[in-house]
Amino acid sequence: MRLFFAIALPDQVRSALGRLRVDDPAYRWVDPAQLHITLAFLGEQPESRLPDLQRIGEAAASASGKSALKLSESGSFGPHSAPRVLWIGLAGDVPALRALQSKLTGSLRDGNFPVEDRPFQAHITLARRRERTSTKTPPPWPPVKNVQPAEIPLDELTLFQSRLSSRGATYIPLGAFALRGQANNPTPGRRV
Ligand code: 2AM
Repeated sequence: MRLFFAIALPDQVRSALGRLRVDDPAYRWVDPAQLHITLAFLGEQPESRLPDLQRIGEAAASASGKSALKLSESGSFGPHSAPRVLWIGLAGDVPALRALQSKLTGSLRDGNFPVEDRPFQAHITLARRRERTSTKTPPPWPPVKNVQPAEIPLDELTLFQSRLSSRGATYIPLGAFALRGQANNPTPGRRV
C-alpha cells in the first residue's frame, strides 16, 4: 500500500484553490477533491505495518495542540522558467504544523519508516508539470487571481492510502487522529 500522512482541507478551501487552475497542457492539476497538506510520504508499505502507523499517528496527534492555518502566497519548486510543482504556501500557526510534522517524522524514523531528510516546507501542491510537454513557455505563475483568506483548522491528522490508476491518484483516508495536546502558543502577556 502506498501511504502518506497529511492534513485534510475543508471543502471551502479546496474549492477556492480549484478556482486557481490555469488551463495549460504543461501541467497536470490535482483534482480539488484530493488537495491536502502532506506531512510525511511513506511510499509502499506492507499492510502488516498499518497498526504501527495508526499508533504513531495517534500518538503524534494527541500530543499536539489544535490550531489554525491560512492560505498564503503561491510558489513553485524547480527552475523559475519551468517550475516542476505549483503550490500555495501556508500562514497562520505554521509553527504548530511544523511541531506536529517533526513529532510525526521523529516517531516514523524510530519505527524504521523511510522519511525524507529535506527540511519541511509547508505547502499545498496544486499542479505538477507533465514530464513530456510540447509547451516551451509555462503559464504565468503565481496566478493573478487572489486566493480567498479561508481558515484551515489544524485539528486532525489523517493517514491516507494513495491508489494510482491511469486517471491519476485517488487518496483514501484510512485513519483520522484528533489533535488533543496543549496549544504551544499561549497569547503573550503584556510587556511592562
Ligand atoms: P506534495 O503535496 O508535496 O506533492 C501523496 O502522493 C503525497 O505524497 C503528494 O501530495 C506528495 O506531496 C507526497 N510525496 C512525497 N514524495 C512523493 C513521491 N516520491 N511520490 C509521490 N508522492 C510523494
